[in-house]
Amino acid sequence: MKKLIITLAICLSFANLAQADENLKQRAQKSKAVVKEFMGQLKGELESAMKAGGPVNAISVCNKMAPVIAKNLSDKYGWDIARTSLKTRNAANKPDAWETKVLNEFDARKAKGEDVKPMAHFESVDGNFRFMKAIPTGEVCLKCHGENIAPPVKAKLKELYPDDMATGYKLGDVRGAFTIIQPM
Ligand code: HEC
Repeated sequence: MKKLIITLAICLSFANLAQADENLKQRAQKSKAVVKEFMGQLKGELESAMKAGGPVNAISVCNKMAPVIAKNLSDKYGWDIARTSLKTRNAANKPDAWETKVLNEFDARKAKGEDVKPMAHFESVDGNFRFMKAIPTGEVCLKCHGENIAPPVKAKLKELYPDDMATGYKLGDVRGAFTIIQPM
């Protein structure tokens, strides 16, 4: 009898674990979709501004639109949605301790040869669901985050962000990550 109860208890706790696991997976799925929405809006704004007036003009899109898009999506979903990086341009995007750990892991995973594009990480942290999705450095990003930034772009960036750390990136580097906190 005792054995049966113990076996039952073990089975139940495995069932609970599986259920918790399923809950996290579903939250990650939703987070991925919201990241796509964020990326889609930002890319659209960035590309049309680049076409209309080149990178100096497009800086204002990242400067003004990125925080607005993040805020609108946060309000829409009731989550905390932002972008972060180990080397931030805007200090308001600085990572916390957990984000710093995950960003370092992303760099290590990339160094081992993993593809950056689908790279993500999620777990429950202190009663919240936390999700991060790596952002690869594409060709267009180099104009404002690369090693050879045109002087007028450099000057404008310096004016807006005197403490800018977000330059010197190479194609394919992990530029940063989308980061989401969902209350559980
Ligand atoms: C026209 C210039 C420009 C281009 C092109 C550009 N960025 Fe940025 N990026 C900025 C500016 C300006 C900020 C600061 C935004 C803010 O104040 O929140 C920024 C911020 C970021 C951040 C937030 C973290 C931080 O450093 O503060 C990430 C992540 C990022 N950019 C990724 C990219 C990626 C990926 C691309 C290419 C798809 C890209 N950027 C292209 C100008 C640019």
